[in-house]
Amino acid sequence: MSDWTDIIQAATTHDPLSGAVNTPIQLSSTFNQPDFDNFGHFDYARSGNPTRESGEQAVAKLEHGQHGYLFSTGMAAISSVLFTLSAGDHIVVSKHVYGGTFRILSDVLPRWGITHDLVDFSNPDAIQAAIKPETKALYIETPSNPVLKITDIRAVVALAKANHLITIADNTFMSPFLQKPLDLGVDIVVHSATKFLSGHSDILAGVAVTNNANLAEKIYFMQNAVGATLGVFDTWLLLRGIKTLGVRMTQSSQSAQKIANYLSTHDKVERVLYPGLASHPGHDIHASQSKSGGAVLSFDVGSEDKAKAVVEALKIPIFSVSLGAVETIISYPPKMSHAELNADELHDTGITPGLLRFSVGLEDADDLIADLTQALALI
Ligand SMILES: Cc1ncc(COP(=O)(O)O)c(C=O)c1O
Repeated sequence: MSDWTDIIQAATTHDPLSGAVNTPIQLSSTFNQPDFDNFGHFDYARSGNPTRESGEQAVAKLEHGQHGYLFSTGMAAISSVLFTLSAGDHIVVSKHVYGGTFRILSDVLPRWGITHDLVDFSNPDAIQAAIKPETKALYIETPSNPVLKITDIRAVVALAKANHLITIADNTFMSPFLQKPLDLGVDIVVHSATKFLSGHSDILAGVAVTNNANLAEKIYFMQNAVGATLGVFDTWLLLRGIKTLGVRMTQSSQSAQKIANYLSTHDKVERVLYPGLASHPGHDIHASQSKSGGAVLSFDVGSEDKAKAVVEALKIPIFSVSLGAVETIISYPPKMSHAELNADELHDTGITPGLLRFSVGLEDADDLIADLTQALALI
């Protein structure tokens, strides 16, 4: 069935008791056991709750996975997946990963003997060179946050298989509506469902999905052991948000493409980073693995002072750290999402002082272009 139908079917549960089309919110931390010796499917809500289970089945279906897990935040999902590694293990990671992922890898996991190397994932030879005997996984984020760097998912999967490694992909920027890493051979997909999946800047949530029963068992163990699970109200809001994922992604991507085209001809803009532009490095690879360029672009106005002036002059977007919502969000990565990186690391990952990230919402694209025009005229 098409993704459009899958989205509605995945997020709509026909409650067998009442016929309600929306998933009941089961506010119960514990469940009565009918038998002294044999316990039911649910016993304690950290281990499983009917509302969360509906949400987990929904995200698994959207990613074409068998096993889905919901966490309290994207970082909880990513950390719980990484916690399935053991002391002595090594992981090769795209050097363009989200700042929070970088922080867990740099400041937490090494204390437990799990090490990593950061590599430019657009270069398969560099990935191969970083693989050591103790390497267990390759970690992809494509397009990456905020420089929209593209990784060839199929090429990394081939490399992983040749070296008996697993692959983990952060699919936050595309959402399963635009890109399905599991179909391309990735082992585990993770998300900040705070972003496009929920889509309304109202909840924090995280997702992990896999088709591998062995990995699923490890992730479930860690979800239950660490306990950073998604609450039932937030699961309900996530399911509600997912129902409109297709229309939101389609509309916002079309607007993002129009805005990227406009900015790429603007003389005050030094560069536009958007995988939907034919000039973007990795455009062809991205087109081969995704339905569109997505709803996020970044552009460079040349300096921090100019970036500040543009942000202060814009009237429509909100200025904040998140992305993937119905309202357009502009952010300044060096001081926001990537504040963990020092000056050298920012430079090395292409996060220049004039870089602004623009997550396109559902406003009229022409209104956003008019707003950008008046703001850019001031610098
Ligand atoms: C690509 C990506 N992955 C993971 C995260 C972390 O998600 P959360 O903020 O829900 O913990 C973010 C947050 O911005 C992100 O952009």
